[in-house]
Formats: sequence, structure tokens, C-alpha cells
Amino acid sequence: MINPFTSSTLECYLTCPRGLEEVTAKDISPHCKNVKTGSGGVSFTGDLQTLYTVNLYSRTGMFALVKLLEFSADNEKDLYYQIADYPWYEWINHDDTFSIRSRVFSKHFTDSNFVTLKVKDAIVDRIRQKTKRRPDVDKDNPRYSLFVFIHEDKVSVFLNSSGSSLSKRGYRQKIHKAAINEALGAGLILLSGWEPSQPFYDPMCGSGTLPIEAAMIGRNIPGGNYRKSYTFKGWKDFDPRLWNSVVRESREKIRNDKLHIFGSDNMGANVDMAKRNARQILIHTHIKFAKKEFEDFTPEFSGGTILMNPPYGERIGEEKELESLYQLIGSVLKQNCVNNDAFIFSGNKELTNLIGLKSQRNYVLKNGKIDCRLLHYPIREGNYVGYLLYIFKSAINEIIITHNTRIIVGVWY
Ligand SMILES: C[S@@+](CC[C@H](N)C(=O)[O-])C[C@H]1O[C@@H](n2cnc3c(N)ncnc32)[C@H](O)[C@@H]1O
Repeated sequence: MINPFTSSTLECYLTCPRGLEEVTAKDISPHCKNVKTGSGGVSFTGDLQTLYTVNLYSRTGMFALVKLLEFSADNEKDLYYQIADYPWYEWINHDDTFSIRSRVFSKHFTDSNFVTLKVKDAIVDRIRQKTKRRPDVDKDNPRYSLFVFIHEDKVSVFLNSSGSSLSKRGYRQKIHKAAINEALGAGLILLSGWEPSQPFYDPMCGSGTLPIEAAMIGRNIPGGNYRKSYTFKGWKDFDPRLWNSVVRESREKIRNDKLHIFGSDNMGANVDMAKRNARQILIHTHIKFAKKEFEDFTPEFSGGTILMNPPYGERIGEEKELESLYQLIGSVLKQNCVNNDAFIFSGNKELTNLIGLKSQRNYVLKNGKIDCRLLHYPIREGNYVGYLLYIFKSAINEIIITHNTRIIVGVWY
């Protein structure tokens, strides 16, 4: 049992989009201790300053959580009594508000709403027993926001220090209907290994998430630099001097180097939206936005990273209409983008197969509930020969399958 307000060492967990655990661990490890990757997040230890710092700096994290309790329970009574055993009254007053979110993956507890209700009852009963009054639940703007995770019989209760997801940086006034969130966008850039001295291109930029995140990385601007609210600022004993010193130190590290970041899209309204979002945080002077059809895309410099998130049929457009777009992506990369590294983020394997290039690496990620891949295509002279060989092999395979003469496979390969 941990009282987060008296304990000198906090055990924390930073959640992140699945597939970005390694990147998240690397991103926060300069600021904390005992960093270990989990599933959908990273655990770490530290003090309050660590917690403030991780909230401010993390690019790929979503919620920075402080562990309060961990125990085993396989029935509702056990759950209730073990939650009620914790001295909530030590830091939640009857006039405070709190909220609870539960996630359950368990055969013992199948209904997360029921778990939320039980945990709420246990907390309220314990505080009322001690103080004769009870705190209220406020789902929208609570002073204390609790997360309950149950995996089989393992129950963990956390205090959320971030409030809304850290992916909400505060620069997106409007977003494209298929926009990726900022934490995922930053994670894709970090996975690509892009260095700020190199050019960066997103030729399908939508609301501008990838170029804006690249500019923030390039200038060493912390992920939370523009964010106004964090739940920990409303906690008892919030230390504004400590927070201000963490922020001040981060601002001293912001760079003003010249960056070569380009964002384009074939829809003028999207380009305008991306520009507006970039202007919101005055980073627009570091990004060149333009309205452009992808078929006209040619990188201004070589040696760069091309990272894009083409539509993939889950949210916009129909798959059939997208087939020719993915074929176009393959031919434009081959013809116009030699000596650049291309990365395609997509949730549709059939469509990415139509790119017709062999990916060198394939990162498995989740975009919300959608299984996605980030595919790395180093575009080099000679790839075209490889591509022809690939097309040749596919054609032969088709003939073999059509004529049901599998025995020839060994001969042809
Ligand atoms: C999934 S959205 C990108 C979302 C973006 N990553 C964001 O976070 O806002 C795909 C974008 O590709 C653009 N697009 C589709 N076909 C295109 C083409 N032929 N040329 C240029 N852009 C295209 C769409 O207009 C859309 O903005």
C-alpha cells in the first residue's frame, strides 16, 4: 500500500500505444529509474519530480500512473474488502472529488462497470466510516482520478497523474477524420530513426500530426510543452515551484536549428488545417506545407525520411478505390525517392502488398483497436531490379497455382 503523498519512491506506469513500449522506455529513461517495458506501457520508479518530468517530456506516453495497491482477488467481496482496507482518508477529503476507470481481463470479473461500482463503494464507505462524510464522484473533472486494472485475479489500483491523455498536446484545433493521435505520431517518427539533421517528408499529412511532431522532436520541445492541464496540478501538496523549475529547465534545452520538414496533401482543406495546427504553437516557420498530389511528390533533398499514413479503408474510402493509390505509392517511391528511407503506416496488409516493394522491417502497432504495421522501405538504386524479380516470382507463382503444378515451385525458386 502506497501513500503517494508521503512515499519518497513512487512506483509508476506510463501507458502508451501498443507496439511503442520500447520507444517509450528509451524516451523516458533519462528521467527515471528502473524502466521496464510491459504490455501497452512502461513501469518506472522515481519521486514527485520524476512524475512531473515524465508528464512533461514523454512523447509517446498517454497516462502516467502511480501505483497505490496491488493484491489478488477472485470475487467481489474480496475486491471490496481489500480496496476498503486502504487508508483513502489520508489524502482524499470528504469535499474532494474522484473518478474511477476500470479495465478487466478476467474470468472472475467480467463487467468493468460492476468493478468500478464496487471499488467506488469501498472507497466511499472507508472515508465515511472515518470522517462521517463522503467525497463525490466527478467523471469530468475530478481532483483524483483512479485506474483499476484486473488481469485474472491480479488487481492493481493506480492514481492517474496526467488527467486527459498526454497525447493531447493542445495544438490540434481541428483534426482529419482519420488522424492518428500525437503520441502514436511521435512514436512512428522515433521508430523510423529520423535524425533532425535529415529531411523529413509526409506527403499525405492530413491535419499535420507527423510534420508537427517531427518539428517538436527536431527542436527538442517536450511533448507536454503546450499542454495547460495535468491532474497532478490539482492534487493536495502540489509543488508549483518544483513544477516551474522542471518546465524552466526543459525550455532552456529547446533548440532553434534549421529543420527540413515538409508536409503535403492533395486536399487544400487538409493543408490549411495542418498549417493552422502548426501556427497554434508557432512552429509553422519550421515546416513547409503545400497542396500536392502524391503522384507529383519528389523529395527536395535525398537522404531523408518519408513517413506517411495513407488512408487504409478502415475509416475513410473504400478498399477498392485505394488499391490504385497503394500501387501509385510503390511507383512514386521507386521513381522519385531513391536514396531516401520510406515508412508507410497502414492497417491493411492487402493494400500494402500492392506497394510492390519488399519492406526491410515491419513494426507491429495498434492504432486504437486497429492492428497496424509500420513498414520500412529503404529506397536504393537497384531496388527496381529486386522489384522486377518480385513481380516475376509472383507471376510464376500465379501460373503454378492456376495450373496446379506445385512440383515446379522448387525448380523455379
Ligand atoms: C489517414 S489520412 C492522414 C492523417 C494524418 N496522418 C493526420 O494525423 O492527420 C490520409 C491523408 O492522405 C491524403 N491523400 C489521399 N490520397 C492522396 C494523394 N493521392 N495525394 C496526396 N494526399 C493524399 C488524404 O487527403 C488524407 O489527408
